[in-house]
Amino acid sequence: MQTKSVVGQIFVGRQMQTKSVMREQYTIFNRTDRVACGWYWLLPSSSLKRQKVVSANIVGYELAVFRGADGRVAALDAYCPHMGAHLAEGKVEGNQLRCFFHNWCFNEKGKCTDIPCLNGMPSREISTKSWVVQERHGLIWIWLGEDEPSELIPEPPELQGEKYEYSVGNFFIKNCHPNVVMVNAIDEQHFHTVHHLPGEVLNMEANRINSTHIEFKNTGTVPDANLVGRLVGKLYKNCLTYNLNYWYGSSGTVTLGPDFLHLYLMFTLRLSALGQTEGYAVAFARKPTNFLQVLLNPIVLLLTKLAGLYFAKGDTRIFNTIKFDFKTPIAADHAVLAFIQHLDKQKSFPHKSHD
Ligand code: FES
Ligand SMILES: [Fe+2]
Repeated sequence: MQTKSVVGQIFVGRQMQTKSVMREQYTIFNRTDRVACGWYWLLPSSSLKRQKVVSANIVGYELAVFRGADGRVAALDAYCPHMGAHLAEGKVEGNQLRCFFHNWCFNEKGKCTDIPCLNGMPSREISTKSWVVQERHGLIWIWLGEDEPSELIPEPPELQGEKYEYSVGNFFIKNCHPNVVMVNAIDEQHFHTVHHLPGEVLNMEANRINSTHIEFKNTGTVPDANLVGRLVGKLYKNCLTYNLNYWYGSSGTVTLGPDFLHLYLMFTLRLSALGQTEGYAVAFARKPTNFLQVLLNPIVLLLTKLAGLYFAKGDTRIFNTIKFDFKTPIAADHAVLAFIQHLDKQKSFPHKSHD
């Protein structure tokens, strides 16, 4: 399907003529047959011990994921190239995985290194697909793309190049597509209607960082009409800090909090086989540089995780029943439209069932 970048330019004045065209032209957004190429969470690191193998599924691809004796993680196509046994039934030997059925052995690149009944190495090259996986922020990530990874696993931009700590927060499920969950965080209208924020607090300005990364910076300020507003306003020099950064429409970081203490939160989501969103929240904090910070950091991380819980729990009522269908975009939806437009221009990777 051809990408046409009409979204975001058409909502002013011409929405009636273009709405049906736009809904059919999503090339990635809200689709169940492909995702944007990029990094996706596969498993929490804590769920895979040394010299263990587990099964995992990502957008329809069944995998055997194992951790070798050296602590490194590898992911192979699940079904053995000999006769199709599930490799997660096997066992890890050193840094290799041995199939349970006839005991063929595979290294982390998927190359067969031992066939016991032939007394060792196969005479010809036998291999199974290996996937690029990396561990970061307490999660095992997998690269979904035809080529080698062209970028690093997302992290809060303000912490780039700095030392930081993290804490994996809650796992959550939502009854709708990950892109729909993600875009909710920049849906200005609903912050007023559902969360009762005053009108002028949020104005999410889109800023394309590169082809896979887009930032939404709040340019709104705290209204000073009442005492609470005036007190809160003193915590912010300029705008009320609420900044979102998105990658692949499925991982995002939120930066929020007063100028003297920014909180950093990541949400990373994927589509389950049941068409639901499965996600993790991860809290971040700068590495402490003095004793007081050593004491305070666990509290900051806890506070951030609580903020994550609020975000993850919020709007469940909407996500449980929504059938996302953006029939009538209006100017107030500008951030949502910018998100869709940016996502739809990214390279895509097919779900397994739609090969
Ligand atoms: S099916 Fe795996 S070794 Fe035979
Ligand atoms: Fe919300």
